[in-house]
Amino acid sequence: MKVLLLLGLVAVALCEPVKFVGDKVLRLTPGSEEHVTIIKEIGDKIKVDFWRPDSADLVTIGKTVDIHVPAAQLDMVYTILHQSGMEVTVMLENLQAAVEAQLDKRATKAHGYTKYNDWATISEWVSSIAAANADLISTQVIGNTYEGRPMHLLTIGKKTGSAKPAIFMDCGFHAREWISPAFCQWFVNEAVTTYGTDSEMTTLLDSMDFFVLPVFNIDGYAYSWSNDRMWRKTRSPNSGSNCVGTDPNRNFDAGWCTVGASSNPCSETYCGSSIESEIESKNLANFIRSNKAVVKAYLTVHSYSQMLLFPYSYTYDLAADHSELLSVSRGATSALTSLYGTRYTAGPGAATIYPAAGGSDDWAYDLGVRYSYTFELRDEGFYGFLLPESQIQPTCEETMLAIKYIATHVLNNP
Ligand code: ARG
Ligand code: ZN
Repeated sequence: MKVLLLLGLVAVALCEPVKFVGDKVLRLTPGSEEHVTIIKEIGDKIKVDFWRPDSADLVTIGKTVDIHVPAAQLDMVYTILHQSGMEVTVMLENLQAAVEAQLDKRATKAHGYTKYNDWATISEWVSSIAAANADLISTQVIGNTYEGRPMHLLTIGKKTGSAKPAIFMDCGFHAREWISPAFCQWFVNEAVTTYGTDSEMTTLLDSMDFFVLPVFNIDGYAYSWSNDRMWRKTRSPNSGSNCVGTDPNRNFDAGWCTVGASSNPCSETYCGSSIESEIESKNLANFIRSNKAVVKAYLTVHSYSQMLLFPYSYTYDLAADHSELLSVSRGATSALTSLYGTRYTAGPGAATIYPAAGGSDDWAYDLGVRYSYTFELRDEGFYGFLLPESQIQPTCEETMLAIKYIATHVLNNP
């Protein structure tokens, strides 16, 4: 009987998703070096999960820090913070309630553009939207993930029979940033449904191709649905460690593992055992290397913070194309803001968010893809990664305006 009970508990521990009952998300504003040190110590010694920045080592004076504190750790964290005199606000009172509230349309498993879809649903959607739009969409698999899931890539554009300039866009680098894959799906649908009526989209698809990878880190995304909503990294094991996964956006050949990245497999910003150690990174890099002649822009979609970033992040040096990248980012964010007033900050990664090496944006840029941008979609931390489904539509609509602005600039200035 006891054995059975124990087995039952183990089974629950293995299969039940992680629960966040009583966990809180706190926002801290470190006003001094002491505050920064205290936050880093909390990060080192107590099991807290950094939402913004991505890990404790990226914390700097004056920049907002959002941390998810498990219920069991709250007393200790509050004591330390109150003693320090740091400004603390509660962003989410009860994380589990926010996790449950985020799926406000959960009733159906069917695919939808204004809900979050799991990987099985997205993967079926790839086939059905491609089949229904054979004149505009073709698909291919650029390789499999660590766990063997096919990485489907959609090519969207009028088939002309000759080579066209192309824009590569990926979503879902980080598993818990669910609004990102939702945007890639929205983009594909919007492209095919407005082709022929919207003159800008028609020109774009007539003259160029979009390569869209709707979910890059599929294993992590699936795990964020099945086991741990707050999962970020890939799902490959690390030798000599019980911690799983690499931060794919620290795994590229761009100042690899020098700043804003960790060589500790347990860190959320682990850079991996080597450049492109993750098969997903290798598959993406190989595709772009093979299509270098046509790929004019690289767009990678993350959340959250409402920012439009461009190279560099691995150094404070300005990119050779800095002034053009900056002016295009400003045009794109003002187009975005024009719809609902959502405010974006635009600038080079290192100075705008934080220095962090090994990102796919910097890698693509140094490879020769002149227009390289990272989107950090809504919001600014009110819901953070748990953006409610009711915000999918406005987020995607406004983001479309920015993407179309960039694409039109790329088309006219290849
Ligand atoms: N939040 C993103 C990340 O940390 C920002 C990426 C900016 N680009 C970069 N190369 N670090 O992955
Ligand atoms: Zn991200």
